[in-house]
Amino acid sequence: MPKATVLIQGASSGIGLEFVRQLLQRSKPTHVIATCQKMADDRLSRLQRDYLQHSKHRLDVLELDVRHQDQFDTFGQQVEDCLNDLKRERGLDMLINCAHICNRHPSNRVETSLNDVLSIDLNDVYQVNVVGPILMTKILLNALKRGRPSFGSSTSNAPYSSLIVNISAELASISNNRVGGWYAYRLSKCALNMATKNLALEFGRQPVDENSICGLKKDEDPLLFVAMSPGVVNTQMIHEYKKLFPKDAHFLTKAESVKRMLQAIDKLSLKDNGKFLDFNGKEIPY
Ligand SMILES: NC(=O)c1ccc[n+]([C@@H]2O[C@H](COP(=O)([O-])OP(=O)(O)OC[C@H]3O[C@@H](n4cnc5c(N)ncnc54)[C@H](OP(=O)(O)O)[C@@H]3O)[C@@H](O)[C@H]2O)c1
Repeated sequence: MPKATVLIQGASSGIGLEFVRQLLQRSKPTHVIATCQKMADDRLSRLQRDYLQHSKHRLDVLELDVRHQDQFDTFGQQVEDCLNDLKRERGLDMLINCAHICNRHPSNRVETSLNDVLSIDLNDVYQVNVVGPILMTKILLNALKRGRPSFGSSTSNAPYSSLIVNISAELASISNNRVGGWYAYRLSKCALNMATKNLALEFGRQPVDENSICGLKKDEDPLLFVAMSPGVVNTQMIHEYKKLFPKDAHFLTKAESVKRMLQAIDKLSLKDNGKFLDFNGKEIPY
Protein backbone atom coordinates (compact mmCIF):
# COMPACT_ATOMS: atom_id res chain seq x y z
CA MET A 1 0.00 0.00 0.00
CA PRO A 2 1.55 3.38 -1.05
CA LYS A 3 2.53 5.58 1.89
CA ALA A 4 2.60 8.93 0.10
CA THR A 5 0.53 10.52 -2.67
CA VAL A 6 1.76 13.15 -5.10
CA LEU A 7 0.07 14.78 -8.08
CA ILE A 8 2.19 15.96 -11.02
CA GLN A 9 0.35 18.41 -13.25
CA GLY A 10 1.77 18.49 -16.83
CA ALA A 11 3.45 15.09 -16.78
CA SER A 12 3.29 13.98 -20.40
CA SER A 13 6.83 15.11 -21.26
CA GLY A 14 10.02 16.83 -20.12
CA ILE A 15 10.51 17.62 -16.45
CA GLY A 16 6.99 16.53 -15.40
CA LEU A 17 7.44 13.06 -16.88
CA GLU A 18 10.85 12.78 -15.22
CA PHE A 19 9.30 13.65 -11.82
CA VAL A 20 6.86 10.76 -12.31
CA ARG A 21 9.68 8.37 -13.26
CA GLN A 22 11.90 9.26 -10.29
CA LEU A 23 9.04 9.24 -7.76
CA LEU A 24 8.11 5.73 -8.91
CA GLN A 25 11.69 4.63 -8.24
CA ARG A 26 11.75 5.82 -4.63
CA SER A 27 12.13 3.24 -1.90
CA LYS A 28 9.02 4.60 -0.14
CA PRO A 29 5.89 3.17 -1.84
CA THR A 30 4.38 6.14 -3.62
CA HIS A 31 1.05 6.83 -5.31
CA VAL A 32 1.56 9.18 -8.26
CA ILE A 33 -1.35 10.88 -10.01
CA ALA A 34 -0.09 12.28 -13.32
CA THR A 35 -1.99 14.62 -15.62
CA CYS A 36 -1.69 15.00 -19.37
CA GLN A 37 -3.52 17.08 -21.94
CA LYS A 38 -4.56 14.10 -24.04
CA MET A 39 -5.15 10.63 -22.65
CA ALA A 40 -3.81 9.13 -25.87
CA ASP A 41 -0.29 10.14 -24.80
CA ASP A 42 1.60 6.87 -24.63
CA ARG A 43 4.66 7.99 -22.63
CA LEU A 44 2.77 7.74 -19.34
CA SER A 45 1.14 4.42 -20.25
CA ARG A 46 4.59 3.08 -21.08
CA LEU A 47 5.70 4.12 -17.58
CA GLN A 48 2.66 2.32 -16.16
CA ARG A 49 3.77 -0.83 -18.00
CA ASP A 50 7.49 -0.52 -17.18
CA TYR A 51 7.34 0.37 -13.51
CA LEU A 52 4.17 -0.96 -12.07
CA GLN A 53 4.18 -4.68 -12.59
CA HIS A 54 4.61 -6.31 -9.16
CA SER A 55 5.34 -2.87 -7.77
CA LYS A 56 4.54 -1.33 -4.42
CA HIS A 57 3.94 1.96 -6.25
CA ARG A 58 0.81 3.09 -8.05
CA LEU A 59 0.35 5.41 -11.03
CA ASP A 60 -3.00 6.94 -12.04
CA VAL A 61 -3.18 9.02 -15.21
CA LEU A 62 -5.85 11.70 -15.57
CA GLU A 63 -6.63 13.99 -18.49
CA LEU A 64 -6.72 17.77 -17.99
CA ASP A 65 -6.17 20.68 -20.31
CA VAL A 66 -5.66 23.56 -17.89
CA ARG A 67 -7.02 26.06 -20.44
CA HIS A 68 -10.48 24.55 -20.06
CA GLN A 69 -11.99 25.79 -16.84
CA ASP A 70 -15.02 23.52 -17.29
CA GLN A 71 -12.82 20.41 -16.90
CA PHE A 72 -11.70 21.28 -13.37
CA ASP A 73 -14.77 20.12 -11.39
CA THR A 74 -14.78 16.69 -13.02
CA PHE A 75 -11.01 16.52 -12.55
CA GLY A 76 -11.32 17.32 -8.82
CA GLN A 77 -13.81 14.47 -8.44
CA GLN A 78 -11.54 12.08 -10.35
CA VAL A 79 -8.68 12.88 -7.96
CA GLU A 80 -10.96 12.19 -4.97
CA ASP A 81 -11.92 8.85 -6.59
CA CYS A 82 -8.24 7.90 -6.96
CA LEU A 83 -7.62 8.82 -3.30
CA ASN A 84 -10.72 6.94 -2.06
CA ASP A 85 -9.63 3.89 -4.00
CA LEU A 86 -6.66 3.52 -1.67
CA LYS A 87 -8.90 3.69 1.41
CA ARG A 88 -6.26 5.60 3.35
CA GLU A 89 -8.57 8.46 4.31
CA ARG A 90 -5.73 10.71 3.39
CA GLY A 91 -5.38 13.48 0.88
CA LEU A 92 -2.58 14.66 -1.35
CA ASP A 93 0.85 15.03 0.27
CA MET A 94 2.38 17.01 -2.59
CA LEU A 95 1.28 18.84 -5.75
CA ILE A 96 3.83 19.82 -8.41
CA ASN A 97 2.51 22.26 -11.02
CA CYS A 98 4.72 21.70 -14.04
CA ALA A 99 2.81 22.41 -17.26
CA HIS A 100 3.76 25.47 -19.25
CA ILE A 101 3.80 26.94 -22.69
CA CYS A 102 6.33 29.32 -24.12
CA ASN A 103 4.87 31.34 -26.95
CA ARG A 104 6.03 30.67 -30.47
CA HIS A 105 6.26 34.04 -32.15
CA PRO A 106 5.96 34.10 -35.98
CA SER A 107 9.61 35.24 -36.03
CA ASN A 108 10.36 31.74 -34.65
CA ARG A 109 12.04 33.04 -31.50
CA VAL A 110 10.75 34.42 -28.22
CA GLU A 111 10.00 38.15 -28.17
CA THR A 112 13.34 39.95 -27.95
CA SER A 113 11.77 43.33 -28.60
CA LEU A 114 8.54 45.12 -27.76
CA ASN A 115 7.71 44.99 -31.48
CA ASP A 116 7.32 41.21 -31.24
CA VAL A 117 4.88 41.30 -28.32
CA LEU A 118 1.39 40.08 -29.22
CA SER A 119 -1.68 40.30 -27.02
CA ILE A 120 -2.66 36.71 -27.91
CA ASP A 121 0.71 35.39 -26.68
CA LEU A 122 0.49 37.29 -23.41
CA ASN A 123 -2.99 35.88 -22.79
CA ASP A 124 -2.31 32.28 -23.87
CA VAL A 125 0.87 31.95 -21.84
CA TYR A 126 -0.79 33.51 -18.77
CA GLN A 127 -3.68 31.06 -19.07
CA VAL A 128 -1.49 27.94 -18.92
CA ASN A 129 1.38 29.17 -16.71
CA VAL A 130 -0.58 31.13 -14.10
CA VAL A 131 -4.33 30.43 -14.24
CA GLY A 132 -3.62 26.65 -14.51
CA PRO A 133 -1.62 26.32 -11.25
CA ILE A 134 -4.01 28.62 -9.34
CA LEU A 135 -7.11 26.65 -10.40
CA MET A 136 -5.32 23.37 -9.61
CA THR A 137 -4.62 24.56 -6.07
CA LYS A 138 -8.19 25.79 -5.70
CA ILE A 139 -9.86 22.57 -6.85
CA LEU A 140 -7.46 20.39 -4.83
CA LEU A 141 -7.41 22.52 -1.68
CA ASN A 142 -9.46 20.13 0.46
CA ALA A 143 -7.39 17.14 -0.64
CA LEU A 144 -4.19 19.11 0.10
CA LYS A 145 -5.46 20.02 3.57
CA ARG A 146 -5.91 16.28 4.26
CA GLY A 147 -2.30 15.54 3.26
CA ARG A 148 0.63 14.66 5.52
CA PRO A 149 4.23 15.87 5.36
CA SER A 150 5.54 12.83 3.44
CA PHE A 151 7.87 15.15 1.52
CA GLY A 152 10.04 17.86 3.03
CA SER A 153 11.39 17.81 6.57
CA SER A 154 8.42 18.58 8.80
CA THR A 155 9.02 18.51 12.53
CA SER A 156 6.31 17.81 15.07
CA ASN A 157 6.44 21.38 16.37
CA ALA A 158 6.09 22.85 12.85
CA PRO A 159 3.87 20.40 10.97
CA TYR A 160 2.22 21.12 7.63
CA SER A 161 -0.40 19.19 5.75
CA SER A 162 1.12 19.17 2.26
CA LEU A 163 3.66 20.73 -0.02
CA ILE A 164 2.90 22.61 -3.23
CA VAL A 165 5.75 23.21 -5.69
CA ASN A 166 5.09 25.62 -8.54
CA ILE A 167 7.72 25.11 -11.21
CA SER A 168 8.94 28.59 -12.07
CA ALA A 169 12.04 29.85 -13.91
CA GLU A 170 15.07 31.98 -13.07
CA LEU A 171 13.91 34.28 -15.86
CA ALA A 172 11.13 35.37 -13.46
CA SER A 173 13.55 37.11 -11.12
CA ILE A 174 13.12 40.88 -11.55
CA SER A 175 16.36 41.54 -9.64
CA ASN A 176 18.39 39.20 -11.87
CA ASN A 177 16.92 40.39 -15.18
CA ARG A 178 19.87 41.86 -17.06
CA VAL A 179 19.08 41.07 -20.70
CA GLY A 180 15.31 41.61 -21.15
CA GLY A 181 13.16 39.84 -23.74
CA TRP A 182 10.98 36.73 -23.23
CA TYR A 183 8.06 39.05 -22.39
CA ALA A 184 5.10 36.66 -22.14
CA TYR A 185 7.09 33.87 -20.45
CA ARG A 186 8.90 36.10 -17.93
CA LEU A 187 5.70 37.94 -17.02
CA SER A 188 3.79 34.70 -16.52
CA LYS A 189 6.42 33.13 -14.24
CA CYS A 190 6.68 36.38 -12.28
CA ALA A 191 2.91 36.25 -11.72
CA LEU A 192 3.19 32.57 -10.72
CA ASN A 193 5.78 33.57 -8.10
CA MET A 194 3.42 36.22 -6.72
CA ALA A 195 0.60 33.66 -6.58
CA THR A 196 2.93 31.30 -4.67
CA LYS A 197 3.76 34.00 -2.12
CA ASN A 198 0.09 34.97 -1.75
CA LEU A 199 -0.96 31.34 -1.19
CA ALA A 200 1.84 30.86 1.36
CA LEU A 201 0.51 33.86 3.28
CA GLU A 202 -3.13 32.77 3.10
CA PHE A 203 -2.62 29.07 3.91
CA GLY A 204 0.79 29.06 5.59
CA ARG A 205 -0.06 30.25 9.09
CA GLN A 206 -2.83 30.74 11.60
CA PRO A 207 -4.22 34.32 11.71
CA VAL A 208 -1.89 36.89 13.30
CA ASP A 209 -4.82 39.19 14.21
CA GLU A 210 -8.50 39.53 13.31
CA ASN A 211 -7.67 41.39 10.06
CA SER A 212 -5.32 38.69 8.74
CA ILE A 213 -6.24 36.93 5.53
CA CYS A 214 -6.29 33.26 6.47
CA GLY A 215 -7.70 30.25 4.65
CA LEU A 216 -7.17 27.80 7.52
CA LYS A 217 -9.58 26.68 10.21
CA LYS A 218 -8.27 26.53 13.81
CA ASP A 219 -7.53 22.80 13.73
CA GLU A 220 -5.92 22.78 10.26
CA ASP A 221 -2.18 22.55 9.69
CA PRO A 222 -0.61 25.06 7.27
CA LEU A 223 0.25 24.30 3.65
CA LEU A 224 3.79 24.81 2.43
CA PHE A 225 4.20 26.56 -0.95
CA VAL A 226 7.41 27.20 -2.92
CA ALA A 227 8.26 28.36 -6.44
CA MET A 228 11.20 26.39 -7.81
CA SER A 229 13.38 26.85 -10.87
CA PRO A 230 14.59 23.63 -12.52
CA GLY A 231 17.68 25.31 -14.06
CA VAL A 232 18.30 25.26 -17.80
CA VAL A 233 17.29 21.75 -18.77
CA ASN A 234 17.62 19.85 -22.01
CA THR A 235 13.93 19.49 -22.87
CA GLN A 236 11.85 20.24 -25.93
CA MET A 237 11.48 23.85 -24.80
CA ILE A 238 15.23 24.50 -24.63
CA HIS A 239 15.82 22.65 -27.90
CA GLU A 240 13.87 25.37 -29.66
CA TYR A 241 15.78 28.24 -28.04
CA LYS A 242 19.31 26.78 -27.76
CA LYS A 243 20.74 29.35 -30.15
CA LEU A 244 19.77 32.15 -27.74
CA PHE A 245 22.16 30.76 -25.08
CA PRO A 246 25.95 31.39 -24.95
CA LYS A 247 28.03 28.63 -26.62
CA ASP A 248 29.49 27.50 -23.27
CA ALA A 249 26.11 27.43 -21.45
CA HIS A 250 25.63 24.36 -19.23
CA PHE A 251 22.39 22.44 -19.78
CA LEU A 252 21.19 20.05 -17.11
CA THR A 253 19.71 16.71 -18.08
CA LYS A 254 16.10 16.12 -17.01
CA ALA A 255 17.31 13.38 -14.66
CA GLU A 256 19.89 15.65 -12.99
CA SER A 257 17.50 18.58 -12.58
CA VAL A 258 14.67 16.49 -11.10
CA LYS A 259 17.04 14.56 -8.81
CA ARG A 260 18.38 17.82 -7.39
CA MET A 261 14.89 19.34 -7.06
CA LEU A 262 13.65 16.27 -5.15
CA GLN A 263 16.69 16.49 -2.85
CA ALA A 264 15.94 20.19 -2.25
CA ILE A 265 12.23 19.41 -1.68
CA ASP A 266 13.18 16.81 0.95
CA LYS A 267 14.87 19.55 2.98
CA LEU A 268 11.97 22.03 2.93
CA SER A 269 10.22 23.16 6.08
CA LEU A 270 7.70 25.86 7.02
CA LYS A 271 10.43 28.48 7.25
CA ASP A 272 10.72 28.17 3.45
CA ASN A 273 7.04 28.96 2.88
CA GLY A 274 6.58 31.38 -0.05
CA LYS A 275 10.23 31.29 -1.17
CA PHE A 276 11.56 31.26 -4.73
CA LEU A 277 14.30 28.59 -4.91
CA ASP A 278 16.68 27.16 -7.48
CA PHE A 279 17.05 23.40 -8.15
CA ASN A 280 19.56 23.14 -5.28
CA GLY A 281 17.17 24.77 -2.81
CA LYS A 282 19.12 28.06 -2.81
CA GLU A 283 16.97 31.19 -2.60
CA ILE A 284 16.60 33.30 -5.76
CA PRO A 285 15.77 36.99 -5.23
CA TYR A 286 12.30 37.90 -6.48
N1 LIG B 1 13.45 23.26 -19.68
C1 LIG B 1 13.96 24.30 -19.07
O1 LIG B 1 15.14 24.66 -19.25
C2 LIG B 1 13.14 25.12 -18.10
C3 LIG B 1 13.73 26.27 -17.55
C4 LIG B 1 13.00 26.99 -16.63
C5 LIG B 1 11.73 26.58 -16.28
N2 LIG B 1 11.18 25.47 -16.84
C6 LIG B 1 9.82 25.09 -16.40
O2 LIG B 1 9.78 23.69 -16.13
C7 LIG B 1 8.45 23.20 -16.41
C8 LIG B 1 8.52 22.00 -17.35
O3 LIG B 1 9.14 22.43 -18.55
P1 LIG B 1 9.70 21.43 -19.65
O4 LIG B 1 10.97 21.99 -20.14
O5 LIG B 1 9.65 20.03 -19.14
O6 LIG B 1 8.62 21.67 -20.79
P2 LIG B 1 7.97 20.69 -21.87
O7 LIG B 1 8.83 19.51 -22.14
O8 LIG B 1 7.59 21.60 -23.00
O9 LIG B 1 6.64 20.17 -21.12
C9 LIG B 1 5.56 21.02 -20.90
C10 LIG B 1 4.40 20.21 -20.39
O10 LIG B 1 3.27 21.09 -20.23
C11 LIG B 1 2.13 20.44 -20.77
N3 LIG B 1 1.11 21.40 -21.19
C12 LIG B 1 1.23 22.42 -22.06
N4 LIG B 1 0.04 23.04 -22.23
C13 LIG B 1 -0.83 22.40 -21.41
C14 LIG B 1 -2.21 22.56 -21.13
N5 LIG B 1 -2.93 23.50 -21.73
N6 LIG B 1 -2.79 21.73 -20.23
C15 LIG B 1 -2.09 20.76 -19.64
N7 LIG B 1 -0.79 20.54 -19.86
C16 LIG B 1 -0.16 21.35 -20.74
C17 LIG B 1 2.70 19.69 -21.96
O11 LIG B 1 1.79 18.72 -22.40
P3 LIG B 1 1.81 18.19 -23.96
O12 LIG B 1 3.00 17.29 -24.04
O13 LIG B 1 0.51 17.50 -24.08
O14 LIG B 1 1.93 19.44 -24.79
C18 LIG B 1 3.96 19.11 -21.36
O15 LIG B 1 3.68 17.95 -20.62
C19 LIG B 1 7.67 24.38 -16.99
O16 LIG B 1 6.89 24.99 -15.99
C20 LIG B 1 8.77 25.33 -17.47
O17 LIG B 1 8.37 26.67 -17.50
C21 LIG B 1 11.84 24.73 -17.76
